[in-house]
This record gives sequence, structure tokens and C-alpha cells, in this order.
Amino acid sequence: MQALGHVLQTQQFILGEQVAAFEQAAAAQLGVNHALGCSSGTDALWLAMAAAGIGEGSTVLTTPFSFFASVSAILRAGATAILADIDQSTFNLSPTAVEAVLDGPEGKAVTAILPVHLYGQCADWTAFSQIKQQRGIKLIEDAAQAWGAEWNGVKAGGLGDIAAFSFYPTKNLSAAGDAGMVTTNSDELAERARMLRQHGMRRRYYHDEIGWNTRLDGFQGAVLNVKLRYIEGWTRARHNVARRYHALFHAAGLAEAGPYPVHGIVLPHEVTGTRHVWHQYVIRSARRDALREFLAARKIGSEIYYPVPLHLQEALKCLGYSEGAFPESERAAREVLALPIFPEIREDEQQTVVNAIAEFLS
Ligand SMILES: Cc1ncc(COP(=O)(O)O)c(C=O)c1O
Repeated sequence: MQALGHVLQTQQFILGEQVAAFEQAAAAQLGVNHALGCSSGTDALWLAMAAAGIGEGSTVLTTPFSFFASVSAILRAGATAILADIDQSTFNLSPTAVEAVLDGPEGKAVTAILPVHLYGQCADWTAFSQIKQQRGIKLIEDAAQAWGAEWNGVKAGGLGDIAAFSFYPTKNLSAAGDAGMVTTNSDELAERARMLRQHGMRRRYYHDEIGWNTRLDGFQGAVLNVKLRYIEGWTRARHNVARRYHALFHAAGLAEAGPYPVHGIVLPHEVTGTRHVWHQYVIRSARRDALREFLAARKIGSEIYYPVPLHLQEALKCLGYSEGAFPESERAAREVLALPIFPEIREDEQQTVVNAIAEFLS
């Protein structure tokens, strides 16, 4: 309330001191040189690409198993989007599938890869960094779900050339409305992003390029700056919750080795050397829809991220893919189910979830 009151007192409703303070603290927490607040994660993706010079004539390669914005932002930036399938155990963009596309007929045109750190776990950055080095392709992170996630000790947001975060109210670090952020270690890209988020202005009312209005609100900056002080504790709590689910599912004898479920469920896979921030705890079930209904009847919330892979979305028919193009993504869309996870969930509540799933499977 104090932070919000400060915004009212100073009348700095757009950008201003609170946003600047948040940007500075966020950059320090992520270990990056620059962090720029903007109006949503979707805008952050567009802004990151526009700053990196991706537009008409560029081709960006990404995953079909993500939120719609991962692809729509590429198209909004004026670029062509092409897709490669996911890894069956992490649900993240598969470097092997990416290499196959890069070696194929469409590969030469690819200017950037946009891996998504899905559910709070980084995409395979060792492999993607190698691809970048070998082929000179830019890497843009969709880190919308991954505040605080790490790959080999480097935080998401500082892995690629430039990155986009979302602070949508359900995210681990969340605003009280729409908000997003672009991060980068490059002075040049940060300068371009800063200019583009205010209609391409470096000097007030002198427009060097056609940018957009995608600034962060003062109120959102104030809320986020306060929450930033708590996010580490919340992330550790999420970690304990995930560990507890693992232990409870194993104790109940429900966890199968995978990668695909047979009679039981497959638990989420945490890659060694990474820090998963458990934005979602996602299991696989062969009878996912029936399980979701069974849980709903017992007032246990669950969600499907995502039921339709992007290449099969009505709006993205223009990409030219058909069913069967990405079998792992299509299978994941049929099998994944996100269970309740939040820092404050109690062990008895988790036990209730596990018991209900045990009852369903029996
Ligand atoms: C992977 C991913 N990319 C992009 C976005 C877009 O973020 P926003 O909803 O803040 O525009 C989201 C969040 O909804 C997301 O989960």
C-alpha cells in the first residue's frame, strides 16, 4: 500500500521512479546488465525481437507446445515463424529437432531461435548455445514462465541475446494486472528496446523508428518491486512442494518411468544442472481428460497447458502445418495435466490430490 501510495503521490503513472527501481533490482537479481519493464509478456516478446532486428525477411524457429504468444509475437514482428518438435521428457524445444530443421530446406533462412522455458525449466541451453556458435543464429528466450530458473548457474533472462518475461497474475512473479519485461546483457539491444517501447523516441517527439507504446505502469512497477523481495522464498517453497509431490506419488506407487504413461502417471522430469522454478507441476496421464473430470468432481483444480499445439490452432493455419507434423507436441497436448502448486499449499492438501489420483487409477 505504501508503494502504491507513492505512485499516487508522485503521479508517476507510467514508468517513473517505481518502475526504474524495479528494473534496477530485477536486473541485479537476474545478474543481467539491463531490464526494461513493458506492458505484457506478449509485448516483451515483440519488443525483444524488434530490438534484435527481427522483422520482415527474418525467420524465427520455435516450439509448437507453448502459449500462443510465442508464435503470434513472431508474426506481429513481421517475421516468418517455423516450428520444431519438443523433447518428450521436458516438453521444451528439442535441439535435435531444431538441428534437423536447420539442416533441411527451410534451415538457411532461420535468423533466430526462440526456445521457451516451459513450466519454469530452462530449455537445453548447452545445445542451443552450440547451435548459435556454429551457425551464427540469435537466441531469444521466452522466459515468461521462468523467473529465477537457471541453466548451469546462469539465470534465465541472461542466457540468450535477449529475453522476455511475463508478470501475468498467475506467474511466479506476478503483477496486479498485465506487465512484462525485456532483459539483455547487450547495451545496444537495451538501447534499441528502450527506444522502441516509446514509439521509437530517443528525444521526446522525435521518432527515429516505428516502435510502439509498450511501457510499464507505475502501479505495476510498485507491486512488482515489493514482490521481488519475496520471490526467492516463494521459489524455494515451490521446490519443496514439487519434492513432496514426487515423494507422495512414489510412496503411493503411482509414478511410472516414462517417457509415456501406461497405467499410472509420469512425473515431471527435472534436468540435472538446472534450477526448475516449478511454475507448473505437470504430470502425464494416458486418460488425462477423465482424470481431470474426476479431480474436478472432488473440487481439485487442474489445468491443461496446452490442449491444442500451436500448429493446429485455427489462427495459425497460415503456418502450413497439418496434424502429425509434431507428434511429441501432439501427444503432450493429449496427456499433460498441471496439478495445484503454489508456495503455501500444505502437505495434507497435496496428499488429497495424490489420494484422488490413486483412487482414479485403481
Ligand atoms: C510461454 C509464454 N509466453 C508468452 C506469454 C505471454 O505473456 P502475457 O500473458 O503477459 O502477455 C505467456 C503468458 O501468458 C507464456 O506463458
